[in-house]
Amino acid sequence: MGAFGIEGMKVLVTASTKGIGFGISKVLLENGVNVVINGRTQENVSASLEKLGRLGAGKVYGIAADITKREEAVRLVKEASQALGGLDSLVYVTGPPKPGKFSELSFQDWEAGVDLLIKSALVLAKESITYLEKSERPSMVFLTSVAVKEPIPNIALSNVLRISIHGLVKTLSRELAAKGIRVNAVLPGHIETERAIQLALDRAQREGKSLDDVLRETAREIPLGRLGKPEEIGYAVAFLISPFASYITGTFLPVDGGILRSL
Ligand SMILES: NC(=O)c1ccc[n+]([C@@H]2O[C@H](COP(=O)([O-])OP(=O)(O)OC[C@H]3O[C@@H](n4cnc5c(N)ncnc54)[C@H](OP(=O)(O)O)[C@@H]3O)[C@@H](O)[C@H]2O)c1
Repeated sequence: MGAFGIEGMKVLVTASTKGIGFGISKVLLENGVNVVINGRTQENVSASLEKLGRLGAGKVYGIAADITKREEAVRLVKEASQALGGLDSLVYVTGPPKPGKFSELSFQDWEAGVDLLIKSALVLAKESITYLEKSERPSMVFLTSVAVKEPIPNIALSNVLRISIHGLVKTLSRELAAKGIRVNAVLPGHIETERAIQLALDRAQREGKSLDDVLRETAREIPLGRLGKPEEIGYAVAFLISPFASYITGTFLPVDGGILRSL
């Protein structure tokens, strides 16, 4: 048995051609999990499949689908479960919302934000339940952000909307417990991805600083003194879907280098 005891599990990781979702998929594959990765275009999915396919232990499949579109999210869960021959875990990652302060965002931005950060989770969770009910070790893990606990400047969409996902996690964890389905959330802090660079660039422009200065300042704000790696989110997810987390449900786990100050 590998370190996490998750070999042979069947897991769908959404929004996973890059960044945090990619890092999670990599860790799961290295630990013998069979994984379906997802992104909006076949081009990105194929490129990521090529990189992940070389890693080995588990099997990896890819499905192009835009999770903000209801019919595509429904198809994604169905095709993923068919490819894997069932589903043990839904690992929900979504694309990054548009950065900006409340005063800078239009109503259309909020509508797109709701599709991206809330509706996609509702559809994917609802569609997954039928398959998870048939699993012997079923779970869901929702990736949110430390912004849920302590709002971050310039990402109003994330600060406001992701809180709903924590309501969803608590609701589902109680509703699905009788079926043995565990439901948890992971809250990433600053993780080294394209998204993190995009946010740092946005801050650099606003504050008239260089990108390097902003990245150094960000690292200084983090007690562990550095940004996290996508794989470090993967280890938390591997634990939460594993038998070692068999009594953990309805919980929110920050993986943030200690940046959250609140209790
Ligand atoms: N990085 C951080 O520090 C950090 C911290 C807290 C929370 N987060 C959140 O974590 C999530 C992932 O962030 P990241 O930094 O890994 O971003 P990233 O590097 O930009 O990767 C985003 C991924 O999402 C996919 N994606 C985007 N929209 C999609 C859609 N509608 N349907 C399906 N896939 C979609 C992209 O694939 P394609 O381009 O191939 O579609 C890509 O694989 C975001 O919601 C972000 O806000 C990030």
